[in-house]
Amino acid sequence: MNEIEVRNLRKSFGKIEALKGVSFQVERGEVLALLGPNGAGKTTTIKILTGLILDYEGEVFYRGQKFHPYHRKIKRLIGVVPQHNNLDKELTVYQNLKLHGLLFGLSGKKLDRRIDEVLEMAGIGEHKHRKVDHLSGGMKRRLVIARALLHSPDILFLDEPTVGLDPAVRRSMWNFVVRLNSQNKTVLLTTHYIEEAEVLASRVLIMDRGVMVVEGAPEELKRELGRFILEIQTEDGIEEEFFDSRHEAVERAKALSCPVRIREVNLEDVFLKHTGRRIEV
Ligand SMILES: Nc1ncnc2c1ncn2[C@@H]1O[C@H](COP(=O)(O)OP(=O)(O)OP(=O)(O)O)[C@@H](O)[C@H]1O
Ligand SMILES: [Mg+2]
Repeated sequence: MNEIEVRNLRKSFGKIEALKGVSFQVERGEVLALLGPNGAGKTTTIKILTGLILDYEGEVFYRGQKFHPYHRKIKRLIGVVPQHNNLDKELTVYQNLKLHGLLFGLSGKKLDRRIDEVLEMAGIGEHKHRKVDHLSGGMKRRLVIARALLHSPDILFLDEPTVGLDPAVRRSMWNFVVRLNSQNKTVLLTTHYIEEAEVLASRVLIMDRGVMVVEGAPEELKRELGRFILEIQTEDGIEEEFFDSRHEAVERAKALSCPVRIREVNLEDVFLKHTGRRIEV
């Protein structure tokens, strides 16, 4: 049975059709990435799946049960890291976690123990009594993830987990997500970073303008194009040819007299192929 099944989601904001019929499934234990440019509908999808948007068309099932946001059992299954940190900046790290724990029905020594555990997991234990306002961007992001883990959810939603973080902090966040997944957590993340999807996702759903463009394992999607790209610089711009091996691309390049470059195919190429546009914004 799937962890999540999403059938034909539609959502409009006035005249804007944010989702135009999106269907997909999430399997237990996988890291699924929704990859798409600004406005693709990633956050809208997450908000529907986590009960933050209530009026929409379509259906969502968790472990075969129809999702209703007030269904406590399902709410306990999921932890949410929203796109924008919604921490209480005037409170300390500990106080933020305590408040959240109380909302989930945890309390007393059990809650305090769990707070120490998630702070340890997130690598911010030494900042327990600091005011959130005084934390760096990376620490705040870790705290939001720690908070999402507090009630031990099986499924974690991460909406743009590393947006605005510098490359080194981003990498350490990736390691953190990999560790969580190895502890049997199912992860659904959104991103518009190609590399993030390639590094973390076992499966990628490419979204654009409210529709699901294509889905598959990153390797599969790339293989469909060919593994290598030969970029040929002509008078009219750069032309691209795809090859299954570097050797074939090299052989083809030898027959040309203009400047060329050979590189491996990435998910940006997959996006471009399917939409005619570039993902990076
Ligand atoms: N509350 C809202 N009111 C009006 N329009 C909205 C609202 N929320 C989202 N939209 C619109 O719906 C579309 C999809 O937005 P969404 O936030 O889901 O995109 P996204 O893929 O998460 O983009 P980003 O990468 O910028 O976070 C956009 O055109 C956006 O402007
Ligand atoms: Mg978003």
